[in-house]
Amino acid sequence: MLEARTAVKSLHAYRPPLAGRHGLRLDFNESTIGCSPRVLARLRSLDAESLARYPDREPVEREVANFLGLDAAQVLLTNGVDEAIHLLCSTYLEPGDEAIIVVPTFAMYAIFAQAEGARVVQILSGEDFAFPLESLLARINPSTRLIAVANPNNPTGAAVACEVPLQVARAAPQAAVLVDEAYFEFHGETILNHTERPANLFVARTFSKAHGLAGLRIGILAGDAGQMAMVRRVASPYNVNAVALAALPEALRDQEYVERYVAEVQRGRRVLEQEFRTLGLRYWPSRGNCFAGARNPGTRQERRSGMRRLRAPDRRILRTYQGSDWSATRCG
Ligand SMILES: Cc1ncc(COP(=O)(O)O)c(C=O)c1O
Repeated sequence: MLEARTAVKSLHAYRPPLAGRHGLRLDFNESTIGCSPRVLARLRSLDAESLARYPDREPVEREVANFLGLDAAQVLLTNGVDEAIHLLCSTYLEPGDEAIIVVPTFAMYAIFAQAEGARVVQILSGEDFAFPLESLLARINPSTRLIAVANPNNPTGAAVACEVPLQVARAAPQAAVLVDEAYFEFHGETILNHTERPANLFVARTFSKAHGLAGLRIGILAGDAGQMAMVRRVASPYNVNAVALAALPEALRDQEYVERYVAEVQRGRRVLEQEFRTLGLRYWPSRGNCFAGARNPGTRQERRSGMRRLRAPDRRILRTYQGSDWSATRCG
């Protein structure tokens, strides 16, 4: 009988709650306004011939690299950041290796690492969701081959200074250190152009959030040219489809649209913080797209009822997450 690999059999099936979606599900952190009209116009201009051909990623990759101030050899377009994470795990993880993540965080790091047979080491974020730098550094050992840092983090919105992942990368030269900047636009700080970026440090970006293109599945993985050549060996030459490639340059050109949306989200963050203050709930300022952590004391039941008050119809807050002693929410 055909059997899946042991590592795959031990994975839990991951089912994003897509079924029965009515209206917006803000917990996916999608854009609430959709993509730029210029992107839509470009998509409408596509003809049958452009879809009949296999997509040519490289010209768009060059354009993106240019936009980011990097060489084309340092940039790989991916099928969303999800694929970037998958590719890094396939390139660097052997069964039995260790992958370190700081929890709570985005689910896909653990899933892709486990699928390769790696052991996922979870380090709990500190008080106030602070990055547990010392605990993380203490866990690094020769088996550590991947460390993923979402900056800002999902679902807490917490961000770290660039110096932190740099320190992590220097402490683990045998590990691929991923700085996932999926929410970069809402934060404004990046490690991408840092002059001292070590060769084992990778940066991921997405067009799913601020650019409103989650449905097209486009992301960027950037890193040292030599390392990226290794990652490229694992990627399909056609991993990004022709529709996404057609849309991407237009999405890059319409920065004004992104800036306007980011300003709106930042305003929403301030409204949410005000709501937390009004309700007397503890909150942590977020650097992401409207996340706000509330780690308030009391029973789970009491926290739930606090969050339910936040979700009252007049408050435009649609979804909350629950941890063991914290909750996170978004506003639109
Ligand atoms: C931190 C983080 N990274 C990556 C992703 C996925 O990005 P993409 O849509 O480009 O695969 C998400 C989506 O929620 C995320 O929160």
